[in-house]
Amino acid sequence: MSASTAAPAIRARKGDGTPLVMVTAYDTPSARIVDDAGADIILVGDSVAMVVLGYDDTLSVTVDDMAHHTAAVARAKPRAMVVADMPWMSYHVSREDTVRNAARLLRAGAAAVKLEGGRKRLEMVGAILDAEIPVMGHLGLTPQSVHMLGGFKVQAKEFDAARALVDDAVALAEAGCFAIVLECVPDAVATMVTEAVPVPTIGIGAGAHCDGQVLVFHDLLGLGGGRAPKFVRRYADLRGDATTAVAQFADDVRSGRYPSEAETYHFADGTPVPGLYQAASA
Ligand code: KIV
Repeated sequence: MSASTAAPAIRARKGDGTPLVMVTAYDTPSARIVDDAGADIILVGDSVAMVVLGYDDTLSVTVDDMAHHTAAVARAKPRAMVVADMPWMSYHVSREDTVRNAARLLRAGAAAVKLEGGRKRLEMVGAILDAEIPVMGHLGLTPQSVHMLGGFKVQAKEFDAARALVDDAVALAEAGCFAIVLECVPDAVATMVTEAVPVPTIGIGAGAHCDGQVLVFHDLLGLGGGRAPKFVRRYADLRGDATTAVAQFADDVRSGRYPSEAETYHFADGTPVPGLYQAASA
């Protein structure tokens, strides 16, 4: 991370006219790709549960899991800021345990943590900030609340819910969050929040009027399976390309085209393989 991608610099990007770019990564190679591509922020999202670990929701990942993936991302030594998600039940506990959990993610290599929820979570936001750990907020569709929300659905479609979401965002910004993710909300709601808070909003399925955008690495590269939500723009079909490549390898092995002479090691004196067998059995 450089000074230009530390929390104060990210916060200062509000309204500078250049949208922030955040992309998830969960290991060293994906972090290198995201960093080389020039993203401002690498999010070690708890979406790792669904896109890498095969779970149906994000609730199964633990602080241990998140620290493991955060450390792998940090080993890429990215210029971009590394933000780690606090998993479910890591900040729904005591202040002490919340701060200890956030600190583990910092020690693993994150420069900030992200947590889901608004006014309900202010005490824990304050506790983490008191420990000098920058906090990113996350409102709208908060996947850790999937059972309370009744599924992965667009949020704040009615006026009262929209107003509550704006109040939550203002409260998070006043508490000291340096940025706020807005997930799956109508663009009008994202615009209201973006105008109401002095910190950058980073949208995912929240329309074009946020201060930045985030996508999940596997979604934007076409690495995942199944139908993607409508806000996902696929820039590649890496799953298709990878399947074709592995199928070509299988075909080459079965047909004897792999390995070739050039892909094979030999004795220094060039002894051919049959000679080796004869010598060994003599
Ligand atoms: O876990 C994640 O990937 C996220 C993004 C969807 C913002 O929280």
